[in-house]
Amino acid sequence: TDYPHAFPKDFLWGGATAANQIEGAFATDGKGLTTAEIVKKAADRQQISMGNVTKDSLREALAEQTVGDYPKRRGIDFYHQYPADIKLFAQMGFKALRISIAWARIFPNGDEKRPNKAGLKFYDNLIAEMKKYNIEPVVTLSHYEMPLGLTLKYNGWASREVVSDFTRFTQTVFERYKDKVKYWITFNEINTGAWGFHETGALEDGLTEQEKLQQRYQALHHQFIASALATTQLHEMEPEDKMGCMLARMQTYPATTDPADVLATQQANDRNLFCTDVQVRGEYPNYMNRFFAEHKIKIKMEPGDQAVLREGKVDYLSFSYYMSTVTAAGENEDLGNFSHGLKNKYLEETPWGWQIDPVGLRISLNELWDRYQVPLFIVENGIGMLEAPDSDGKIHDDYRIDYLREHIEQMQEAIADGVKLLGYLMWGPIDLISFSTSEMSKRYGFIYVDQDDEGKGSLKRTPKDSFYWYQKVIATNGKDL
Ligand code: BG6
Repeated sequence: TDYPHAFPKDFLWGGATAANQIEGAFATDGKGLTTAEIVKKAADRQQISMGNVTKDSLREALAEQTVGDYPKRRGIDFYHQYPADIKLFAQMGFKALRISIAWARIFPNGDEKRPNKAGLKFYDNLIAEMKKYNIEPVVTLSHYEMPLGLTLKYNGWASREVVSDFTRFTQTVFERYKDKVKYWITFNEINTGAWGFHETGALEDGLTEQEKLQQRYQALHHQFIASALATTQLHEMEPEDKMGCMLARMQTYPATTDPADVLATQQANDRNLFCTDVQVRGEYPNYMNRFFAEHKIKIKMEPGDQAVLREGKVDYLSFSYYMSTVTAAGENEDLGNFSHGLKNKYLEETPWGWQIDPVGLRISLNELWDRYQVPLFIVENGIGMLEAPDSDGKIHDDYRIDYLREHIEQMQEAIADGVKLLGYLMWGPIDLISFSTSEMSKRYGFIYVDQDDEGKGSLKRTPKDSFYWYQKVIATNGKDL
């Protein structure tokens, strides 16, 4: 039969991480503070609110010079332990590993004219270590971790000034790594910029709801420009390299068959795909004109911006997928991941309320492929759970194996449906600090890390049962699940 029955030979199996959730060493070798390192741990099992950084919380965070209550400053000490960690990834057979380059290691405040050599040295070594095992680096340029200096100086992406700082950063890292890195990603989960600080790096103290939206969408515009300029820059420097955009995919279902609910779902879907529409197609989609008008949002563009967007179209679309959601007419669809929407009675959920939906991944893959016709790349998927070693000292994480197996089966179905998929990078191959709650106890890894929410523990790494399972999956190129 003439449709694909297996994963392609060069399929990129691996895992995904972000600097601020693993590296630690927050002030080592000249690194500046990032927007991630001023966020405290949330109350147990609670989601943070995306806009919860205020002038006061920022002042308090700046006064704290040590790790204090800010777990992302400590990570899992990957900064020092990366050779052993990469070796474990290599033992699983990883073909690719997604890392981010912490902008503030290279430009500590964001606005320096010259890069910090010690920061570059770290990534020289890290990338060399990956290459040693033929692990393909997939590099995110901005993963919720812009230099805090740019928030203090300009209010982050709310200001156009940041574009040139970002361009200087990308120029520096492209020049240095363009021959070693083929797959790049500009902004992690860029669409979450519609939810506030974590993506925009812009404070929202004292703003009305309308003003918040205005500021967020203007910040997104600056990121679109920065992303497009970086894409063009990369293509000029190394035409073989590939640039991707990155979407937090929310597969949304209607609560009922009432056409009003179906329409609300379609609108939620469009809004979820607004950023990728701009980055893949190179222009703003028409439906946003109405959204902007109804919310009194005016995007300030400079002459030439539209040409910049057209020229800087991405080569592939990467995305995270954890769950699906449900909406109905009258619901606020804009909160995505972090509000969960309505519940789907057919699905089970994690202790954090994330509803597990493997078939939703197949639906998403098909919808994204139908809409864009560019290669897709799953660069995050996984399950965060509370875990502790059993009496035998091991971690028996069958639920993780089940979760991943079911999602990989659906990927294979989507490939058979005709979707072009570059790879699968499981989120959090080693336990790390949660993005949305800053908890250590929300564990995703194939590898257990002995550290608790307070930072106590030996940091010892122990493979879980899923480690050996994934090793087999990769060795058989997805045949033995
Ligand atoms: C994505 C982020 O939203 O989901 C990651 O890109 C994050 O940084 C992952 O860690 C899982 O979310 P959380 O909040 O469980 O860590």
